[in-house]
Amino acid sequence: MRKKIIAGNWKMNKTPKEAADFCRMMKEKAGSETAEVVFCVPFVDLHPVLEELKGTGIGVGAQNLHFEDSGAYTGEVSAPMLKEMGVDYVILGHSERRQYFGETDESVNRKVKKALESGLIPILCCGETLEQREAGITIEWVRIQMKCGLAGVSAEDMKKVVIAYEPIWAIGTGKTATAQQAQEVCHAIREVLAELFGMEVAEEVRIQYGGSVNGKNAAELFAMADIDGGLVGGASLKEEFSDIVHFKK
Ligand code: 13P
Repeated sequence: MRKKIIAGNWKMNKTPKEAADFCRMMKEKAGSETAEVVFCVPFVDLHPVLEELKGTGIGVGAQNLHFEDSGAYTGEVSAPMLKEMGVDYVILGHSERRQYFGETDESVNRKVKKALESGLIPILCCGETLEQREAGITIEWVRIQMKCGLAGVSAEDMKKVVIAYEPIWAIGTGKTATAQQAQEVCHAIREVLAELFGMEVAEEVRIQYGGSVNGKNAAELFAMADIDGGLVGGASLKEEFSDIVHFKK
């Protein structure tokens, strides 16, 4: 039985003080016995968030890293730096990073391998544009993203990876994929994982849905057979996040 994982992606929101205040307010409300809960926050918020969430069981994640351990990469942050701080998760290959910061399947793949090598759990994102969905190539597209993003990952490491399926047209638009649409793609992702890593591994990997998840639609989405939780943007910045964590079937 896969444990659900519900992660908030704060994106570029909340100053360190706002982050600490929010965590103080949420730490009781967002804790869960049944699901893994993670706050993925801006680099500068990591320290206050780690301090506030200490001992709560809520995990802390970053939203990017560099694929080298150190070096002349002005403005970048490495996996060992994050690990030493106490960070456990990292979102990689988010569509906003692919769209605005030139992330490619190749750079994402290098980052996934570096995260695993450093003991961080990657939350690897994939998803299609509206044009791709309308052209009927969603599944092929996501299969390619999986094959490229996970190239060279061992079956043992793969069990730790979390996949987030986030249709780009559903991100920040209030337009959620239906539970059936999300399930269809998450199932296809599990199938490609089975082809690449074997059935046993594919059955263990958690696959999240992301894109306008809120307190009202979470339960229906998370009840689907291949959806093991959510990657939540806008609603993770508000008290509503606790309704998502405590979704009722
Ligand atoms: P929203 O929940 O705001 O649509 O964002 C989804 C997302 O991109 C999470 O990574």
